[in-house]
Amino acid sequence: MPPDMPTEPIRRRIALTDDGPILVHGPIEVVLTDGKTMISDRAVTALCTCLRSSRYPICDTSHRRRVRNVTARGSGSGMDRGGRGC
Ligand code: FES
Repeated sequence: MPPDMPTEPIRRRIALTDDGPILVHGPIEVVLTDGKTMISDRAVTALCTCLRSSRYPICDTSHRRRVRNVTARGSGSGMDRGGRGC
C-alpha cells in the first residue's frame, strides 16, 4: 500500500449514466494506461466511457454529439450505444 493511502477505507460514490460518463464523487486519482496519474480535486469528476473525449479520460460532453441508430424495434436494445461495447 502506498504510504499516502488512508488507513480507513473511504467509500466513494460512483454513478453510472445511461448515455455518458461515469460520475465519481470526491477527489480521485486516475492511473492512465501509460502509468501516469491524473488527479482531480473536483466535487464530481466525469470519466469518459465513449472514448470520444478530446480530454480523455475526462468527459468533454462529446458523447452528446453521437447519432443514435434508432430503429422501430431497436430503441432500448443497447445496440445503438457508442463506446467500447464491453
Ligand atoms: S462519455 Fe462524455 S465524452 Fe465520452
